[in-house]
Amino acid sequence: MPRAASIEVPAHVAIVMDGNGRWATQRGLPRTDGHRAGEEAVGRAVHAAVDIGIKYLTLYAFSTENWRRPKSEVRFLLNDTERFVENRRAEFHAMGVRMSWIGRRDWRVPKRITRTIDETIELTKDNPGMTLTIAFNYGGRAELVDAARAIASDAKRGRIDPARIDERTIHRALYDPALPDVDLFLRTGGEHRVSNYLLWQASYAELVFLDVLWPDFDEQHLRAAVDEFNSRRRRFGKV
Ligand code: IPE
Ligand code: IPE
Ligand code: MG
Repeated sequence: MPRAASIEVPAHVAIVMDGNGRWATQRGLPRTDGHRAGEEAVGRAVHAAVDIGIKYLTLYAFSTENWRRPKSEVRFLLNDTERFVENRRAEFHAMGVRMSWIGRRDWRVPKRITRTIDETIELTKDNPGMTLTIAFNYGGRAELVDAARAIASDAKRGRIDPARIDERTIHRALYDPALPDVDLFLRTGGEHRVSNYLLWQASYAELVFLDVLWPDFDEQHLRAAVDEFNSRRRRFGKV
């Protein structure tokens, strides 16, 4: 159900889906079972976000730092992301969701996964509904490094005058220039940190940290975060 008119729905919600490993460990299960349970929570979050009327939902699936985990867990996370996209894209497509990917397309990401994600982007590109962006092999610093490289290369070719580089230039050089600034930055799992997520886009986001572990996340948690967002006064440097 759309929310009452008095409630402002944040246009762009970005989530650090954290706590899968702890959820599994608490149950005496391998960490990978936590990731599998986390997939169900992703499905719930997408449905809830569409119901609430959120326009952009950006989910942190795999960070540039997550390569430091044990090989077997990395492999599971990569396969998991691909399986999730493959299994759920028809359902999300039917809901009118447009899918997108931010992250570095480097040699470490298997071609198979890139192909699956690209097919999904193509399939859903004209959909009018919510934009669901998967941050995969994503790091905020890597994104800024890649943007700097692209801008420097344009400058070298004489396409940009370095003196005229401004915030818009950088914004346009990000992985997805159509992705707006983050309104609500939500992290589950109880940690109070940003972990290299959307450093540029979240510069004025409202930060909300929930104690719930990601596999337990449901619509009520998202609604609670939106209510918390509504209790804040965003000043953007003004009085
Ligand atoms: C988040 O859960 C999933 C990813 C980072 C991919 P974690 O795996 O970080 O779970 P915890 O933080 O160890 O509990
Ligand atoms: C952030 O969670 C990355 C994702 C959710 C994909 P982490 O669990 O990797 O973050 P840290 O290590 O606690 O900072
Ligand atoms: Mg974690």
